[in-house]
Amino acid sequence: MEAKYLRRFIFGVIIISTASISPPSLVYSTTTSACSFPAIFNFGDSNSDTGGISAAFGQAPTPNGQTFFHHPAGRFSDGRLLIDFIAEGLGLPYLNAYLDSVGSNFSHGANFATAGSTIRPQNTTRQQSGYSPFSLDVQLVQYSDFHIRSHTYRNKGGVFEDLLPKEDYFSKALYTFDIGQNDLTAGYKLNMSIEQVKAYVPDLLVQLSNVVKNVYSQGGRSFWIHNTGPVGCLPYSLDRFLITAAQIDKYGCASPFNEVAQFFNKKLKQAGASLRKDLPLAAITYVDIYSLKYTLFAKAKKFGFEEPFIACCGHGGKYNYNSLARCGARITVDDKEILIANSCKDPSVKVIWDGIHFTEAANKWIFQQIVNGSFCDPPIPLQMACHRMLTYHNNSLPI
Ligand SMILES: *[C@@H]1O[C@H](CO)[C@@H](O)[C@H](O)[C@H]1NC(C)=O
Ligand SMILES: *[C@@H]1O[C@H](CO)[C@@H](O)[C@H](O)[C@H]1NC(C)=O
Ligand SMILES: *[C@@H]1O[C@H](CO)[C@@H](O)[C@H](O)[C@H]1NC(C)=O
Ligand SMILES: *[C@@H]1O[C@H](CO)[C@@H](O)[C@H](O)[C@H]1NC(C)=O
Repeated sequence: MEAKYLRRFIFGVIIISTASISPPSLVYSTTTSACSFPAIFNFGDSNSDTGGISAAFGQAPTPNGQTFFHHPAGRFSDGRLLIDFIAEGLGLPYLNAYLDSVGSNFSHGANFATAGSTIRPQNTTRQQSGYSPFSLDVQLVQYSDFHIRSHTYRNKGGVFEDLLPKEDYFSKALYTFDIGQNDLTAGYKLNMSIEQVKAYVPDLLVQLSNVVKNVYSQGGRSFWIHNTGPVGCLPYSLDRFLITAAQIDKYGCASPFNEVAQFFNKKLKQAGASLRKDLPLAAITYVDIYSLKYTLFAKAKKFGFEEPFIACCGHGGKYNYNSLARCGARITVDDKEILIANSCKDPSVKVIWDGIHFTEAANKWIFQQIVNGSFCDPPIPLQMACHRMLTYHNNSLPI
């Protein structure tokens, strides 16, 4: 598999370099060897939480995890998340959550993401609004502490050497980010207008960029940054926010929310370009998850999926989503617990798992589209994401 991506990538570079007349072509600055990332450090929200919020506030209930792990596994999905496929794709074990103190092995990385995380700390409690107290600034503090303490404890030897990353892994690791969606919905939940939410988007990117810069100052070099998804297509948004018929696009998504997501993504892409200038040794890959998720809603059938707006696991309503009885919800009847928000028969043909998060099948499909560098800027395969790409302002091949 490795060789295949490598071959395709070299081929791709040649095409780009010779076929483009005026636009700048992208080429490697160094070699075309795979990076052999020894670790992944992930920052994010529920899209990449592998057990953080579960460790802090209680397990994601069954039937979460049923397809792949066969029991709840700290993930809001029936199975693997995109971050799990990324770990697999790099030949690394699944990431344990930093917050998970039982049975965790951090020798090949750690996951700081928690469900409900935002870039900016919220002024509401989790009780009030559902957002996680582990916002990105907190995740950075945890990462920094993890970095220092890994060093101290590995030096003690024994079991610590087997459970914590080697010092050089911190500079050789892939740093992945998938965060921002909750910052947008936080504004809508406070009844802010689209314009009011847009107004604070630049601040979100300043804060996200500062975290990347801080990780860089601690030695991080390879950054893989997912943009935010079409939140206006999620049953969770369609059910909760006031939307007029005129605001629904031809596929069934709420345009205003998607427009703000795209605005965030435009600014995120610009922030990536600025970071490449500011951090001369960093390789920064921006990954267009939005387009892929949107395609799943718009052209579900074409890719083997059915009824993309209907949650697989839920309870009633137009979208099989009820904010008061989410996936895994139970009621007690005659002293017996009954699961009222259960899984659909075949999650492998569904896009949305619980009204908010994607199924393993959808995550797998998205991974297959991004792994070879398609939908990435620069168009670099996952295994090559340590290579900084230079922009040449003519079409000559580098020596
Ligand atoms: C929280 O409140 C502070 C002080 O008013 C403000 O500066 C900050 O932007 C607020 N944060 C959010 C996410 O609204
Ligand atoms: C942690 O995981 C690594 C890699 O999978 C393995 O080599 C190591 O033995 C594990 N440590 C423990 C204590 O199980
Ligand atoms: C937002 O508006 C709704 C409907 O008018 C209201 O019920 C809710 O309390 C408001 N929320 C906030 C945070 O102001
Ligand atoms: C990348 O993989 C996807 C999915 O397999 C495929 O459709 C696409 O053509 C590939 N792109 C390149 C540049 O190889």
